[in-house]
Amino acid sequence: MKIFKSIYLFFIIVCVFKISSIECYEKKKNNQKPTGYVGLFEDNIDQRKSLVLDGKSDYLSSNIFIGSDPFNVIIDTTLNYLIVAERKCDGCSQFPPYYRESAVFENIPCDSPTCHAIGNTCEKPNKYNPPTCGYETVLQPYGANIKTILYRDIISIDDFKNIPVIISAIYEQSNGPSLRSAILGVGPSCPTCPPSPLQTLLYTLKKPYIFGISLDKNYFGGISIGIVDPLLYTGSINYTAMSKKDGLYSISPSIIGGFWNGQIFNLTRSNDIKRFILSSSSSLSYIPSSSYSKLKTFLKNGGCQNDLDFCSKIDLLFNSCVNASQISIDRFPNIDFYFDEQFILNIPPKNYFHLISRNNQVYVCMGILESPDQNAIIGINLMRELYTVFDNENSRIGFGRGG
Ligand SMILES: *[C@@H]1O[C@H](CO)[C@@H](O)[C@H](O)[C@H]1NC(C)=O
Ligand SMILES: *[C@@H]1O[C@H](CO)[C@@H](O)[C@H](O)[C@H]1NC(C)=O
Ligand SMILES: *[C@@H]1O[C@H](CO)[C@@H](O)[C@H](O)[C@H]1NC(C)=O
Repeated sequence: MKIFKSIYLFFIIVCVFKISSIECYEKKKNNQKPTGYVGLFEDNIDQRKSLVLDGKSDYLSSNIFIGSDPFNVIIDTTLNYLIVAERKCDGCSQFPPYYRESAVFENIPCDSPTCHAIGNTCEKPNKYNPPTCGYETVLQPYGANIKTILYRDIISIDDFKNIPVIISAIYEQSNGPSLRSAILGVGPSCPTCPPSPLQTLLYTLKKPYIFGISLDKNYFGGISIGIVDPLLYTGSINYTAMSKKDGLYSISPSIIGGFWNGQIFNLTRSNDIKRFILSSSSSLSYIPSSSYSKLKTFLKNGGCQNDLDFCSKIDLLFNSCVNASQISIDRFPNIDFYFDEQFILNIPPKNYFHLISRNNQVYVCMGILESPDQNAIIGINLMRELYTVFDNENSRIGFGRGG
């Protein structure tokens, strides 16, 4: 029941995205069978699989089943594990439900090839059972250190039922009080990357390891699984090469630039930013200090031409958030990403800024911040109003207009 409800919900969301599109209304009305459409959509409809996103601005999250229990999971493009707290977990900050083994679970022996590939510890939970494979790591985005036991067990995602995957069950956590729910890794496939649970699921179903994140400006949307969903974007999808270095999805635009009131913003791959990591567990985006200074200089010089009031607000924006009724975001320029594949991805100010509400007051805040290290990160704020396709089969990342 729940699952049908979620599919229905998803279509409502699709319909909100594309209020003008006829097939959407047709689809809802006729319970997923569009009239007047044969061929093109007909085939896809039955195969269309998607996860509804919760509309949280901190990270992407959705719902899946682990065994027979429903779990809210953070969808994380920077991890390849399905991580969930066990009932008996020391220091865990997650809320119930907790992971309990289904009737068909299996331990993973320490000396198995699977353990060599994806585990890094060998645990002996009690003296009666043989040692079993574990995995210990620091989850950077959540600041949590976790120790887990690996299990082979089943999950269900949308209509895909009872698919065996590896589950990483936390029995000890230190730090990371912000780690509040389970995590579904959707990281890249590469020779040295462990297969993510989503990859295993799609592999089992003989479907390509492709998924796409569609987000509207308020962080609502869906994730298409195993396909590029024509309902989630308009026009075409522009693809650029996907890099998978360090097990992270990244892209390398040749130039990041902008023009505003005679000022030029110009970051290059050779001098400034080699790659941008795409992280669905980062709510905001980051660029290294030197690039951030250039952005600041560009926006200040461009905005401080002859409007002192506007100019003072720009200064404020770089330090905190500004009362939204006192600054017009639309006056700011686009920031453009130029790719070797001869296309440009425009990021409009309404997406590199974001709005927050505090005490019935709306504030505008900067969504591209100074990175604490040398990494440049595209977080979910810049994925808004886009359909971002992670095509592992062809090692490419695509951007379509959506949301
Ligand atoms: C940006 O910088 C690159 C390399 O320094 C240069 O080739 C290019 O002409 C610059 N673009 C603009 C618009 O200034
Ligand atoms: C925000 O700006 C509006 C209009 O200028 C003003 O009425 C309101 O008091 C301001 N709110 C805060 C919290 O400063
Ligand atoms: C794809 O590239 C074309 C050409 O640069 C551009 O007009 C279009 O807006 C791009 N689409 C997206 C979603 O960036």
